[in-house]
Amino acid sequence: RRGSPLAVGYGDGEMYLGSDAIALAPFTDRVAYLEEGDWVEIRRAGAVVHDETDAVVTRPITVVSASAFQVDRGNYRHFMSKEIHEQPEVIGHTLAHYLDLSAGTVRLPAEPSFDWKSLSRLSIVACGTAYYAGLVAKYWFERWARLPVEIDVASEFRYREPPLPENGLAVFVSQSGETADTLASLRYCKAQGQHCAAVVNVTTSTIAREADVIFPTLAGPEIGVASTKAFTCQLSVLASLAVAAGRARGVLTEADEARMVAALGDLPGLVLRTLRLEPQIEKLARDVAKVNDVLYLGRGANYPIALEGALKLKEISYIHAEGYAAGELKHGPIALIDETLPVVVIAPHDALYEKTVSNMQEVAARGGRIVLVTDARGAAENSVATLQTIVMPDMDALVAPIVYALPIQMLAYHTAVFMGTDVDQPRNLAKSVTVE
Ligand code: AGP
Repeated sequence: RRGSPLAVGYGDGEMYLGSDAIALAPFTDRVAYLEEGDWVEIRRAGAVVHDETDAVVTRPITVVSASAFQVDRGNYRHFMSKEIHEQPEVIGHTLAHYLDLSAGTVRLPAEPSFDWKSLSRLSIVACGTAYYAGLVAKYWFERWARLPVEIDVASEFRYREPPLPENGLAVFVSQSGETADTLASLRYCKAQGQHCAAVVNVTTSTIAREADVIFPTLAGPEIGVASTKAFTCQLSVLASLAVAAGRARGVLTEADEARMVAALGDLPGLVLRTLRLEPQIEKLARDVAKVNDVLYLGRGANYPIALEGALKLKEISYIHAEGYAAGELKHGPIALIDETLPVVVIAPHDALYEKTVSNMQEVAARGGRIVLVTDARGAAENSVATLQTIVMPDMDALVAPIVYALPIQMLAYHTAVFMGTDVDQPRNLAKSVTVE
C-alpha cells in the first residue's frame, strides 16, 4: 500500500483485495486494513502482511457491521435520491450521538484531547463539499466561540505549509477519510504539533486512524459521487462542536446552549418538511436543464451553501455554475447577468436578508431570472419579481445552512435526471480522491 487505501478481505478458501469494506461487501465482511508501506502475500488460505521494512506484522481482522453493507438503492432510481431522502434519519442519528436533548446540552462522543478554552486557533482543512461544510463552520466557531478560524482547501494548505500557532487545533473534514490532500495536510499539522481532529464518515479510514480524536458523522455509506447526506451530517457535527466550544470558552450561556441544542434537535423534522418541496423543485429543474449557466448567491453562513449548490449542479448535470457571496456581485459577476441566466438566491429572513434583497434588485434590473429560496416572511416581504420562490419552513437561523442545503441538492439531482446524465457516477469523477 502506497498512498491509496488497501484492505484485505478474508473469505472461505478465498481472499480478496479492495479499497475498503464497501468494495469488498459482496464477498466478505471480514476485513483487515493495511497501513501505509505494507505489502501482503495472499494465498487461498490466508494472508501474510509485511510492513515497509519487510517484517511480518499483524493487522487486526475487523468484522464489519451489517449496516455498513446497506448499499442497495431500495425503491429509488439513484443512490443520490435515496441518500437525499435518508437525511432526516441520518441527521437525527448523528445528532443523537452529540446532543442530550432532554438536558439541553451538547455531549460529545469522544473526550477531546485538547482544551477548547486555551485553543489559540482553529484550522479547518478539507476538499470539495467537505470544504464547504468547513466554511459554514468557520462562521459558527467565530461567532459562537470567538475562536479565530483559518480554512483552506487541502491541496493549497499542504503546499502552502502555513505557520501554525502553539496550542492550535486542526480539524479535517472528509466523508471517505481517504482524500490524499486532506491526509497530507493532517500529517503536516501533526508534524507541526497541532491537535488533530477528524470529522469523518468512514471511521476505519486512514484519516480517522491517524487523527488524535475522531468525531464521526453517522451518515451510513454514501455511494453517489455527489455528496449529500454526508454534507448535512458534517454540518450537524460541526455545529455541535461549535456550541461545545462556545460553552467551554464562556461565550455561550447555559440558556444559549439549551436554545441551540433545541434548534439542532428540530433538524430531522425540518429536513423532512423540506423534502416535501421536491415536486416544485422538480418542475423548476425542467427549466434549469435548458440553460448553459447558473449563478448561486448567498450571504453569511449561507454563502457556502451557494458554493455547494453550484458544485452540486456542475458535477452531476455538467451545467456551468458559479457560487458567489451576494455582496461580490457588483465586483464582477454582475456582468454575466442577462435574461437567460437563472440566479438562485439563498436568503432566509435573517439579519442579512435586506442586503441580499438589494442584490436581487440588481439582478432583476438586468433581466436575470431569480429563483428565491427563503421562508414565509422572506417571501412576503420580497417585492422583486422571481421566476420561482421556494418557501422553506420557518427555523432558527443557526440551522438554516443545513436545511437550505436540501433544495439545492434536489435541484441538482432533478436537473441531472432531465439532462440524462449518469447521476451516481458522473463523468471524470471518483468517490474517493486517493491521488493528488
Ligand atoms: C462532492 O459532491 C464531491 N464529489 C467532492 O467534492 C468531495 O466532497 C471531495 O472529493 C471530498 O471528499 P471527502 O469528503 O471524501 O474527503
